[in-house]
Amino acid sequence: MKILIVGGNGTIGSKVRDHLSKKHEVITAGRNSGDVNVDMRDGRSVKAMLEKTGKVDALVCTAGEAKWADFDAMTEEDFYIGIKSKLMGQVNLVSVGKEYMNPGGSFTLSTGILADHPVLMTTSAAMVNGAIHSFVKAVCLELKNQIRINVVSSGLVEDAVDHYQDYFPGHNPIPMKKVVNGFVKSIEGAGSGEIIRIYDNC
Ligand SMILES: NC(=O)c1ccc[n+]([C@@H]2O[C@H](COP(=O)([O-])OP(=O)(O)OC[C@H]3O[C@@H](n4cnc5c(N)ncnc54)[C@H](OP(=O)(O)O)[C@@H]3O)[C@@H](O)[C@H]2O)c1
Repeated sequence: MKILIVGGNGTIGSKVRDHLSKKHEVITAGRNSGDVNVDMRDGRSVKAMLEKTGKVDALVCTAGEAKWADFDAMTEEDFYIGIKSKLMGQVNLVSVGKEYMNPGGSFTLSTGILADHPVLMTTSAAMVNGAIHSFVKAVCLELKNQIRINVVSSGLVEDAVDHYQDYFPGHNPIPMKKVVNGFVKSIEGAGSGEIIRIYDNC
């Protein structure tokens, strides 16, 4: 398969890239990293990236940002960071990317445990994760040519523990292999419209 990973040089994306590269042709993308550049917040940038890569069999997103702060400190502009990046960035990848997807191909998006189990300072991050889950459940009904879409929702991953551990009291970090397998299930499996949850119920 020809697989494009937006965010393919990040903490999670690099592990997904390394695994998929053993079996597939993998292209990575990022604003300042990867084989091709893209800012997924901008649909024109997504189109320019896909004009360079050509059609793909799978488009994976392991990118997307949101502001973490106390709700009392969050401004309207702060909420738009997550809405434009993690939410609309991933919607742009699907909306523009469906024209560059081979029949039977798949999209795999990224959210996280915060959609179901938020922690302090995550009103924005939790909100966009939940919105992406609803988007995936709705858009899977309308994608044509047997194109599938799923979202991988992971807990705090082992490779990010040093940065985020204090925000997730009592959470069990997720081994990278388990996260990678969520993406493999989405890409190489047959399911669509699935929220692939990779965490204990905590
Ligand atoms: N880390 C965790 O424990 C964890 C757990 C669950 C879910 N998640 C979610 O999984 C995703 C990836 O997390 P991560 O920890 O791997 O993040 P990361 O290490 O910061 O990597 C993110 C990657 O995305 C790229 N990127 C960021 N914004 C972009 C944009 N607008 N357009 C294109 N590329 C962009 C970055 O490259 P450039 O700087 O070159 O653009 C970077 O390579 C995030 O949405 C995160 O919320 C993370």
